[in-house]
Amino acid sequence: MRSMSDDHTHVQEFFTARAADWDRRFPDDGPAYAAAVAELGLREGGRVLDAGCGTGRALPALRVAVGPSGVVLGADLTPAMLREAARAGRDRDGALLLADVAALPLRPDVLDAVFAAGLIAHLPDPAGNLREIARVVRPGGVLALFHPIGRAALAARLAARSPRTTSARSPTCVRCSPVRAGT
Ligand SMILES: C[S@@+](CC[C@H](N)C(=O)[O-])C[C@H]1O[C@@H](n2cnc3c(N)ncnc32)[C@H](O)[C@@H]1O
Repeated sequence: MRSMSDDHTHVQEFFTARAADWDRRFPDDGPAYAAAVAELGLREGGRVLDAGCGTGRALPALRVAVGPSGVVLGADLTPAMLREAARAGRDRDGALLLADVAALPLRPDVLDAVFAAGLIAHLPDPAGNLREIARVVRPGGVLALFHPIGRAALAARLAARSPRTTSARSPTCVRCSPVRAGT
C-alpha cells in the first residue's frame, strides 16, 4: 500500500512535468471558473482559499470577488505549479502557499469559502482531506468542489489530442454543487 509521502511524490512528479505547459493546455476554462466563483457568493472583504490552486488560474476571479480588502490564498503541493503561478503574476491576486490540503496551515473557521478545481481526484484520502478543508471554513461558509469540465468534454479534449488515449479508462469528472459548510 502506498504511504502518504509516496502519493505526494507521485502527484508532484505528475504536475511538475505539466506545470510549464498547464495554462496552454487548458485555455478555455475561464468562463467555467468565473461561473464557479460567482456561485461562492463572496463579498467585498471576504476570505477565500483556492485549494490545489495549481498555476493560480482562478486567483484573478477570486480577487475580483473579494476586492482589494479581501484575502485570497492559493495552496498547492507542487512547487513547480506555484512557480508558474508566480511567473504569470498571479501572486499579485493571492498569497501562494506550498501546503498539503491534508494539513492546512490555517486556524479553524477563518475562511468564508474554499474553491477547489480539479483537486479531489488527486487526493489519497478525499473524505479526510475534505474534513480538513471544512475545518478552516466558518459555519455557513461554502466549499465549492468543482471540476472545470465534465466527462464528455474531457473525453473530447483527449480525443482531439490523441485518439488512442480516449477509452473507458479516461478520468471520471464530477461536477459538484457548492456545499454549505456546517450543514
Ligand atoms: C488538476 S490540477 C488543478 C490545478 C488548478 N486548480 C486548475 O484548475 O488549474 C490539481 C492540483 O492539485 C494539486 N494537489 C494535489 N494534491 C494536493 C494536496 N494534497 N494538497 C494541495 N494540492 C494538491 C496538484 O499539485 C495540482 O496543482
